[in-house]
Amino acid sequence: MDFHGIHLPDKNEPTTPGKKLSEGRNANVYEWGDDRVIKLFKASYPTDKVTEEYYNALAVKRLDFKKAEVLELKKTEFGFGIVFKKITGENMLDYILRTGDLKGAALQLTELQKSINRCKFDVLKAEGLDTAHGQLRKHMLASKKADSDATKEMLRFLGTMKEGDSLCHGNLHPDNVMLTDDGPVALSASGYCLGFPLYDVAKTFFLIGYTQIPGEDRNKNENCSCPTCRGISNMEERKEFGRYYLDAMGKTATQIGGYLSMIIAGM
Ligand SMILES: Nc1ncnc2c1ncn2[C@@H]1O[C@H](COP(=O)(O)OP(=O)(O)O)[C@@H](O)[C@H]1O
Ligand SMILES: [Mg+2]
Repeated sequence: MDFHGIHLPDKNEPTTPGKKLSEGRNANVYEWGDDRVIKLFKASYPTDKVTEEYYNALAVKRLDFKKAEVLELKKTEFGFGIVFKKITGENMLDYILRTGDLKGAALQLTELQKSINRCKFDVLKAEGLDTAHGQLRKHMLASKKADSDATKEMLRFLGTMKEGDSLCHGNLHPDNVMLTDDGPVALSASGYCLGFPLYDVAKTFFLIGYTQIPGEDRNKNENCSCPTCRGISNMEERKEFGRYYLDAMGKTATQIGGYLSMIIAGM
C-alpha cells in the first residue's frame, strides 16, 4: 500500500517467498505477493553491502528513468531482503537467447543507459552514492595487482582526473535489464555511482565482452566477477554485441580505453 509515495506494510504482507525467479552468487530473487519480488541475500553476504544496495536504490528512486522501484529493506526468517515492485516483461538476456537479436538488444540497452546518464547530481549532495572514481580506486587497491607499477601509475593518474556528476548504473548488462511494453527497465542497484557517462559505457562494454569464459554457466563459474551473458558463450557474438553497443552509444574503443584499463586493473 502506498501513502503519499511512502510504502506502508499491508495486512496481506507475504511472509514466505513465492516462486524463485533467479539464482545468483550473492542473492536469490523470489516473487513476494502478487506484485512484488524480494531479493534475499545469502547469509555469507555482508549486511553492509545489503544496506548499501538498498540506499543506492532509494537514492535513485525519484529520478527520471525506468527502474525496479524499491519498497523496503526487510529482515525475514530467510535472511535480509530488499523488496522491489515486480517488473513484468522479459529479461534482456533471455530475449537475446530466444531471438539472437543482438542489434535490437544493443539499441535498447543504449536507450536505457542514456536515460540514466542524463540524471545529474550535485556531487556534494549525492545522497550517499559512491563516485565512479572511488569505485575504481577501491577495486584497484583490492586487486592482486595493486602493487604493480602499472596499477600504481593508473591510481596516480586517476587522482588527477576530474569527477563527473552524471548518474552511472555501474553494472548495466543484459541480465540486469527487463524489456517491458513500456520500454527497457533497469534492475540491480548495487553499482549506482556518480561519474562521467564514459565510465558507465566502459563498464558495460567490459561486462559484455570480458567477464565470462565462453561456455561456462553463470552458476558454475566461481571466477566470474559477474553473472552476465550466461548464454552468450560464443566470443564472436559477444564481440559483435560489444560493437553494436559502442556504435549505438556513439563511442569508440579509443575513447573508453582509459577507463577500460582501470576496470581491468581492478579485477
Ligand atoms: N523487480 C523485479 N521484477 C522482476 N524480475 C526481477 C526483478 N528484480 C530481479 N528480477 C529477476 O531476478 C534476476 C536477478 O536480479 P538482480 O537484482 O540483478 O540480482 P543479482 O544481483 O543476483 O544479479 C534478474 O535478472 C531478473 O530476471
Ligand atoms: Mg543481476
